[in-house]
Amino acid sequence: MRLILLAPPGAGKGTQAELIEQKFRIAHISTGDLLREAVKKGTVPGLKAKKYMDKGELVPDEVVIDIIRDEIKDLYDFILDGFPRTLEQAKILDKILEEEEKRLDTVIEIQVPDERLVKRSVGRLSCKCGEVYHEIYNPPAAEGICDRCGEKLYKREDDNAETMYSRIKTYKMKTLPLIKYYFTKGILKTVNGDQDIERVYWKIEKILNRIKKD
Ligand code: AP5
Ligand code: MG
Ligand code: ZN
Repeated sequence: MRLILLAPPGAGKGTQAELIEQKFRIAHISTGDLLREAVKKGTVPGLKAKKYMDKGELVPDEVVIDIIRDEIKDLYDFILDGFPRTLEQAKILDKILEEEEKRLDTVIEIQVPDERLVKRSVGRLSCKCGEVYHEIYNPPAAEGICDRCGEKLYKREDDNAETMYSRIKTYKMKTLPLIKYYFTKGILKTVNGDQDIERVYWKIEKILNRIKKD
């Protein structure tokens, strides 16, 4: 199965992608995680990306597209989390998939009101293994330690209210048009993300099980 999780910052893309990955055994690709890794390693794409990420703006398409092309070329199926984020990226993804004779099965939009997004982001605790927690909504069993891998949890640099407002604004300007794009293609599904993690996952699982049967 090939799917996209389309949602504003802090809506739960990473959380849901990890659950889908475990249950359906589909690779989870997060451009945000890949970019943060590049920043940490100090690679050329990482150096280019940092200043945009710090401001809550989008990294230039060409930087992200090169990364994604590399990631998906050998994969049969995947969950894309945080990509595409512009119409240009969506069109290039279509082209890459066409060249490889692959097609997207679904795009799942997770809807969450703005005021919740900020609360989710500022309380987030991240782990380098990809797991995400929340100080209140989804705390780890031992404070500050990842349940899955035992590593120390950290706070992302862009998880503050000020950068969040900018990230939400960027989402509305640049990414929202993708909803119409995928709706027109007939592959858009919408899930209410303003409920607990298990319930959101249950809805997504139902959509994916239906696709698997077809
Ligand atoms: P990226 O890392 O993708 O960040 P984002 O889109 O802002 O999304 P987040 O990772 O903040 O949120 P999420 O939806 O994954 O939520 P999560 O599951 O963690 O991108 C970062 C930056 O990289 C961008 O700003 C941009 O600069 C750059 N970038 C990345 N991709 C790019 C691209 N394609 N093009 C250009 N630039 C790009 O959940 C959030 C919190 O809420 C957690 O604490 C979690 O425990 C909690 N939570 C989750 N679900 C629930 C729930 N149902 N109820 C209560 N709490 C919940
Ligand atoms: Mg994420
Ligand atoms: Zn971990």
